[in-house]
Amino acid sequence: MDKRQETIDLLKEYNQEHIIKFLEKLNDEKAEQLIKQIQKIDLHQITELYNSTKKTVEFKESKIEALKYLDKAKLTKEQKEKFDRLGKKVVKNNQYAVVTMAGGQGTRLGHNGPKGTFKLDVYGKGKYLFEILVDNLKEANQKYGVTINWYIMTSKENNEETVKFLEKNNYFGYDKNYVKIFTQSELPIVDTNGKLMMGKDYKIKEASDGNGGTYSSLRRSGCLTDMKEKGIKWVFIGSVDNALLKMVDVTLLGMAISQGVQIASKSVVKANPHEKVGVFCKMNGHPKVIEYTELPENMAEETDSDGELKFGESHIMCNLYTIEAIEKISKEILMYHSAFKKNSYIDLDGKEIIPQEPNSYKFESFIFDAFEFFDDIAILRGKREDDFAPVKNKEGVDSPKTAKELYEKFWNREKKEN
Ligand code: UD1
Repeated sequence: MDKRQETIDLLKEYNQEHIIKFLEKLNDEKAEQLIKQIQKIDLHQITELYNSTKKTVEFKESKIEALKYLDKAKLTKEQKEKFDRLGKKVVKNNQYAVVTMAGGQGTRLGHNGPKGTFKLDVYGKGKYLFEILVDNLKEANQKYGVTINWYIMTSKENNEETVKFLEKNNYFGYDKNYVKIFTQSELPIVDTNGKLMMGKDYKIKEASDGNGGTYSSLRRSGCLTDMKEKGIKWVFIGSVDNALLKMVDVTLLGMAISQGVQIASKSVVKANPHEKVGVFCKMNGHPKVIEYTELPENMAEETDSDGELKFGESHIMCNLYTIEAIEKISKEILMYHSAFKKNSYIDLDGKEIIPQEPNSYKFESFIFDAFEFFDDIAILRGKREDDFAPVKNKEGVDSPKTAKELYEKFWNREKKEN
């Protein structure tokens, strides 16, 4: 059977007949491109994902407990020294790599472009988020006498612009030989009836598959092999949008080594029950983060006997893994979450429809869903004022204004102390 007929049958099987109508209207070249795209889509998976949007996330059957952590500020001198010594050894031996997840756009921020290209108005001149990350890595390189290998994950949507931006800025002085850029995968979006949507370019609309795609993309891109060839033993994975992110924290690393775990993460105390952060817990005996979009109100507000939030350790996207853990996760399938979003599309007459309200589902896997594959995780509680200055919203909480204040306060303090 030829590819065209095969594709038409597939579309019929999965109730996507409207795409056949588009196919019939296209010239041979465009039709061939569309057929190629459809052949790569797992329509069974998309149907399952759409059906899952009808179900609400329930934790009823699960045994949920608070997760243990160590508070960095309360470590004994001996503990701290031991952790730092163990951590430093790994970094100094160049067995430590850093991954930055930079697949997101600055939409919520009102920034037109990759989030890392957003300039935070600090100290008059301002600094791009990518530049802040480079500062952090350079500082660690100087401290430990190495050049840390840096892997940056982009999305299909922002890869070209990100590469151009970093080239233009000469990687903010970071040695290019130690930087590798790789791109994450995409999944189709569907409308409220589970139908694929057509874009202006006569391609089925797809969007990044969430930051949980980092692991499989590391494998697919060859970056995991590259890490193994370089003798990397520990991999840090962090976000692009935290102006105080410490990508090389030897205390966290040493604590993970000392506890003999494969994964570790830094937390900060949740600012209030409804802060938009994921929270750590143990579910059915495994470490887990419940995302703010899925945490039931009663759990968000639950307090312990000391009056502290029971689920109050926030996930700040400061995660650490052994190379074996990355390898293991990269072969697993993570669960997907759906987000209801606005997406423009064209109708059968080719007219573009720009919705005013959310009209479609986007499917994403989350980086922390991989924690469940392990029995344990080492959590180090950091300090909000040292570790967490998220740049998420245009105004109000977690905005450039709040991040600027936190960033400048931190660096003014550091300058005074040194
Ligand atoms: C994220 C975390 C949340 C945490 C909060 C801390 C997830 C799913 N949620 O929420 O638990 O408390 O940060 O600030 O991780 N990204 C990609 N590709 C994608 C999607 C995102 O690379 O497909 C990157 C972004 O560029 C960014 C990071 O992931 O670096 C965070 O993404 P975002 O979706 O904005 O997460 P939040 O909702 O802020």
